[in-house]
Amino acid sequence: MPVRKMYNGFFYKFINYVVKKYQWLSVANAQRSFKQLGPNCYLEYPVHLINSKYVSIGSNFSAKYNLRIETFDQFEGDSYTPEICIGDNVIMNTDVHIGCIQKVHIGNNVLMASRIYISDHSHGDVDRHTLEIIPAKRPLTIKGDVVIEDNVWIGEGVAILPGVRVGRNAVIGANAVVTKDVPAFSVVAGVPAKVIRQF
Ligand SMILES: CC(C)(COP(=O)(O)OP(=O)(O)OC[C@H]1O[C@@H](n2cnc3c(N)ncnc32)[C@H](O)[C@@H]1OP(=O)(O)O)[C@@H](O)C(=O)NCCC(=O)NCCS
Repeated sequence: MPVRKMYNGFFYKFINYVVKKYQWLSVANAQRSFKQLGPNCYLEYPVHLINSKYVSIGSNFSAKYNLRIETFDQFEGDSYTPEICIGDNVIMNTDVHIGCIQKVHIGNNVLMASRIYISDHSHGDVDRHTLEIIPAKRPLTIKGDVVIEDNVWIGEGVAILPGVRVGRNAVIGANAVVTKDVPAFSVVAGVPAKVIRQF
């Protein structure tokens, strides 16, 4: 084998080893940063966390790449007491984004598809005075706790907006924007989400 080929083979193996090691350390670091994390948890690189010390997660949690969890206890001079509670056996596919300044509660056995957004706040009120402030500087406003009860299935591309309670065993259809409470054992879909089936 030509020396150059051998060198390239070794070089790429080495780079691969360093990348894998970095990813492993990054995920291990993310796991340690939670307030509580139950056994048998699987997190995929990359994970984006802000203030994960306010996040408790139960056992058998699984999240694919680009999990983004952000809690804020301070923003532009205001203080908050955020709390995210995630139950047992929760599965999140790629690109799940959860933002919290007060309370987001996710029950047991909740299954999430990809590209999901869940938040309990708004980045500024929508009024004449607030719109004068540049968007990044607008004060965060608490809009109500988000509660997702046990055994809920959340489809692809869903947004669950502040103040919403999703009842147990409900199904949220792909690309729904959930602005109001969802009854237990119902199926909702659309923008804004409406009940299309109720058991
Ligand atoms: C919500 C869902 C579960 C409903 O399935 P279903 O009970 O078989 O519903 P149907 O296909 O019989 O549709 C019932 C009605 O709701 C409408 N509908 C179904 N899903 C919809 C959606 N996501 N958005 C808007 N309308 C929807 C249908 O057009 C139909 O309307 P019509 O009665 O006027 O014709 C399914 O459509 C869905 O969105 N699944 C999520 C898929 C997904 O994200 N998978 C990710 C893999 S984890």
